[in-house]
Amino acid sequence: MTLDLAGLKPAEKQYYLQHVIAPRPICFASTIDKEGKVNLTPFSFFNLFSSNPPIVIFSPARRIRDNTTKHTLENVLEVPEVAINIVTFDMVQQVSLASCEFPKGVNEFIKAGFTPQPSTLIRPPMVKESKVKLECRVNEVKSLGNDPGSGNLVICEVLKMHIDESLLDADKKIDQRKINHVARLGADWYCVVNENNLFEVEKPNTQIGVGIDALPLSVRHSKILSGNDLGQLANVYEIPAVDPSFDDVNLRQIIQYYSINPTDMEKELHSYAKKLLEERKIKEAWQVLLTI
Ligand SMILES: Cc1cc2nc3c(=O)[nH]c(=O)nc-3n(C[C@H](O)[C@H](O)[C@H](O)COP(=O)(O)O)c2cc1C
Repeated sequence: MTLDLAGLKPAEKQYYLQHVIAPRPICFASTIDKEGKVNLTPFSFFNLFSSNPPIVIFSPARRIRDNTTKHTLENVLEVPEVAINIVTFDMVQQVSLASCEFPKGVNEFIKAGFTPQPSTLIRPPMVKESKVKLECRVNEVKSLGNDPGSGNLVICEVLKMHIDESLLDADKKIDQRKINHVARLGADWYCVVNENNLFEVEKPNTQIGVGIDALPLSVRHSKILSGNDLGQLANVYEIPAVDPSFDDVNLRQIIQYYSINPTDMEKELHSYAKKLLEERKIKEAWQVLLTI
């Protein structure tokens, strides 16, 4: 299916875009109006755009239903400050409750059962229950249009971060496994980030990978090695040389059993290399592949 966005209704554009631009982190934004009335609302059109200056952006869009603007947008135009509370799994149902279209002036801290905690540099309070909070100044609000669904970029400079001690390791570094971020996808879908679905991809910053085009043809056109496998193999900064001291019992067996049938031997070697790659043994996988 190919979609020409210009031909879609606003709700359809939102439907397709929100399902595919996903998962999106959730900013739980606390703002106040000029009379000091507090508002608390989740926004998943949210991300980090610069670390120096430290800039995050979220977007309260015009309502598709009636093209009206969100209270959060009106508030930041009156008082350009926002406390952004990062949403984690233990808060998600209350956060969703806070997204109800309560009348202007209703305090969602009370409606959704969160505890206001005074900020130190800005007027809107933070959410005590959130494990990471950002005190932000709004530098600019940029409207992206006047039609239903049009976003409004709220460009925020992070002035202060508050990180719950429970997320830190002994060196005061954040343990990514402990945050349990929640993120939004399409329709009612959410996901949680935890130890079961986190994984690491090593990226050498100083050395440049050889690239998939530099891999030996038999590896590149392998029916067994996947794109992810090739990506790991091609991330070495030079094609390794055969290491005569490399000794592996499985490799010896493959050579012994399949030496009379080179096609089957290649298949076995690729399968074994794949297994090694799954175990992050890149050097070993290369030695197996260099056997051919
Ligand atoms: C998890 C979640 C993420 C949301 N993200 C957005 C968003 O990025 N932009 C938006 O305009 N509305 C978003 N909404 C809907 C608003 O939260 C909802 O319209 C809210 O009532 C607006 O509140 P306000 O008028 O008090 O600012 C989201 C709702 C939920 C539950």
